[in-house]
Amino acid sequence: MIAVAAKLCLLASVALLISLENHDVDGAPRRTCYLPKTPENRAAFRTIRNKYEDLRFDGVEPWQNCSEKYLQLPKMDNLTKWEKMGAMELQLNLFIPVLQNQSETTFAKATSEVLEFLLPYREDLKVCMQHRPSHHQESGYLQGFKDGLQQFNTSNTEQSPKCLEAAVGMNILSLLQEIKGISLHHHHQPRHHSNN
Ligand SMILES: *[C@@H]1O[C@H](CO)[C@@H](O)[C@H](O)[C@H]1NC(C)=O
Ligand SMILES: *[C@@H]1O[C@H](CO)[C@@H](O)[C@H](O)[C@H]1NC(C)=O
Ligand SMILES: *[C@@H]1O[C@H](CO)[C@@H](O)[C@H](O)[C@H]1NC(C)=O
Ligand SMILES: *[C@@H]1O[C@H](CO)[C@@H](O)[C@H](O)[C@H]1NC(C)=O
Repeated sequence: MIAVAAKLCLLASVALLISLENHDVDGAPRRTCYLPKTPENRAAFRTIRNKYEDLRFDGVEPWQNCSEKYLQLPKMDNLTKWEKMGAMELQLNLFIPVLQNQSETTFAKATSEVLEFLLPYREDLKVCMQHRPSHHQESGYLQGFKDGLQQFNTSNTEQSPKCLEAAVGMNILSLLQEIKGISLHHHHQPRHHSNN
C-alpha cells in the first residue's frame, strides 16, 4: 500500500515535457506540448465522487428522478494517443461547465480544487492538439466515443440538469483515470530533455 502510494506520488511529481517540434515553418516558436501527469490534489476528485455516491446510497435528491442507466461514460479503449487527447477535450468541454455550475455548496471547495487542475489542463491539451499530425485519420472508435458522450449528455440532461450534474460527479474519478492513461501513453513518445 505504502509502495503504491509512494509510486503515485512520484508519478504526480514528475511532469512530462514533450518537445516534438519547437518551431513552425516560419521559425516562430511554438508552445511546447506539456501535460501534467496527475493533479496534486487527487483527494478532491474522490471527495466529489464519494459525496454523490452517498447521496445515491441515501436515495435523496437528485437520485429519485435520475436513472442510473445513463451513468456510464463511453470508454477511451482502442483510441490512438491523438484521439484520446481529442476525446478528453470533448469530455472536459462537457464536464467543466457543469462543475462550474455546481449547486451543492458542501462540494464547493472540492469542486474549485478540481477546476484549478482541469482548466489549465484543458488549455495544455489545446496546445498539444496543435502538434497533431495533419494526416491523422479518425478511427471508428472515436466516432463511437463521440456518440456515447453525446448520449451521456442528452440522456442525463433530458431528465434534469441536476441529473447531469450528478452523473458528472459520479464519473469524475473515471476522468482522472483517463487523464492518467493519456500521460502514461505519452511516456512512450520520443522526447528529448533539454535545459532551455
Ligand atoms: C422528483 O420527482 C418527484 C416525484 O415525481 C417530484 O415531486 C419532484 O419535484 C422531482 N424533483 C425534481 C428536482 O425534479
Ligand atoms: C476495443 O476493441 C476490442 C477488440 O476489437 C473490442 O472488443 C472492444 O469492444 C473495443 N472497445 C471499445 C470501447 O470500442
Ligand atoms: C449537452 O446537451 C445540451 C442539451 O442538449 C446542449 O445544450 C449542450 O451543448 C451539450 N453539451 C455538450 C458539451 O455537447
Ligand atoms: C446550471 O444549473 C441550473 C440549475 O440546476 C440549470 O438550470 C442549468 O441548466 C445549469 N447550466 C449548465 C450549463 O449546466
